[in-house]
Amino acid sequence: MFSRVLITGGSGFIGSNFIRYLLTARPDAHLTNVDVLSYSGNQENLRDLEDHPRYTFIHADICDADKIRPLVAEAEAVVHFAAESHVDRSILDTRPFIRTNVLGTQTLLDAAVATKLERFVHISTDEVYGSLLLDRTDLRFTEESAIKPNSPYAASKAASDMLVRAAHHTFGLNTCITRCSNNFGPYQFPEKVIPLFVTNLIEGKKVPLYGDGLNVRDWIHVEDHCEAILAVLDRGKSGEVYNIGADNEQSNLDLTRSILHILGKGDDFIRHVEDRLGHDRRYAIDSSKIRRELGWSASRSAWPDALISTVDWYVKNPGWWQRIRSGAYREFHETLYGNRPPANPAPASA
Ligand code: NAD
Ligand code: TYD
Repeated sequence: MFSRVLITGGSGFIGSNFIRYLLTARPDAHLTNVDVLSYSGNQENLRDLEDHPRYTFIHADICDADKIRPLVAEAEAVVHFAAESHVDRSILDTRPFIRTNVLGTQTLLDAAVATKLERFVHISTDEVYGSLLLDRTDLRFTEESAIKPNSPYAASKAASDMLVRAAHHTFGLNTCITRCSNNFGPYQFPEKVIPLFVTNLIEGKKVPLYGDGLNVRDWIHVEDHCEAILAVLDRGKSGEVYNIGADNEQSNLDLTRSILHILGKGDDFIRHVEDRLGHDRRYAIDSSKIRRELGWSASRSAWPDALISTVDWYVKNPGWWQRIRSGAYREFHETLYGNRPPANPAPASA
C-alpha cells in the first residue's frame, strides 16, 4: 500500500473522482494533485477538499521538468491522469495532444526513473486499440489486441503507452498501464457526449448526434473505474496492462434515447449532424484479466440506474456546468457545432 501518492490531472473529471475515492478508501494516504488547470481542469471539482489535511494542490504543468521532479521525488507512487482528452479537439488541433500526452508523460517518466519511484500507474484508454466492426459482436479488445489508434487523441495516448513500456523495459521502472472504456458520472466536462446532451436538454436545446448514431461505446461509471485503478495501484503486476470495462455496450442512438426518456423529451430533440472525421465505429472491452487477477468487478455501472443517477447529478448541480458553459468553452462549441451541416446520407430511423 502506498501512502504518499502524486496524482496528475486530478482537477479533471476522472482524477477528481479518484482523489475523492482514494481519500475515503485509504485513511492513511496523503495525496498531492499536480494540475495545470487547462480548460477542462476545474478547482470547483475539489472545492470541498481545499482544507483537507491529507490533500495538497500544486498548480504546475507536467511538461515542466523542474517543477515535476521534486514532486515525484516526494511520492511513493504516481497515478497519471493528466491529458488532453477530447477526440473532437484533437481533430481541430493536434499540438496540445502531442505536448501534454507525449512530452508530458515522458517528463514524468524521466523524473520517476531518476528518483527511483516505487510505482507508476499510467491511465490510458481503450481507444488505443482502434475500432471494432458492428457486426462482430463476438470480438472485444483484450490486452493482446493490436494497438491501432485512429484519432490524433488515441495516437497520442498510444505513444504515451509505448513510452511507459519503454521506461519499464529499459530502466526497470515499476509501471502498470490501465485501458478503460468510456466513463460517465459527476463532474464530466460538458463537451463529452453524456454531459453535453444532458445539459443541452435541460436548457431546452437539441442534441447533436453524429452520423447515423449507430456507433457503439462501452460505458462504465467513473467510480467503478476509480476502484479498478486502486486495485492496479495496490496489486497490479509491474510491466502489465489491465483493460477496464463494465460490459455495457450502447449505440449512441440508444444512449441518446435513454437520456431523452429520463428527461421527458422526444426524438424531436435530436439534431442529426455530419459525422465526426474518422469516427471509430465500436469499442468493446474484455476486462476478464483484471477481474481474474486482481479480483475487481464493476458494481456501479448497471444501466439504466447508473445513467439515471448521473443525469440527476447534472439536474441538481446546474451552477457547476452553467459556469463552464458560459466561459471560453462557448467559443469551442461554436467552432465545432455552429455551422455543422446535417447528417448525410439520412440517418437510420430505428
Ligand atoms: P479531463 O479532460 O476531464 O481532465 C484532464 C485533466 O488534466 C484536467 O484537470 C487538466 O487541467 C489536466 N491537464 C491537462 N494538461 C495538463 C498538463 N500539461 N499538466 C498538468 N495537468 C494537465 O479528462 P478525463 O476524462 O478526466 O481523463 C483523464 C485520463 O483518463 C486521461 O488520461 C484520459 O486519456 C483517460 N481516460 C478517459 C476516459 C473517459 O471516458 N473520460 C476513458 C479512458 C481513459
Ligand atoms: P465522446 O463523449 O466525445 O467520447 P469518445 O469519442 O472518446 O468515445 O463521444 C462518445 C460518442 O458520442 C462518440 O461516438 C461520438 C458521439 N458524439 C455525438 O454523437 N455527438 C456529440 O456532440 C459528441 C461530443 C459525441
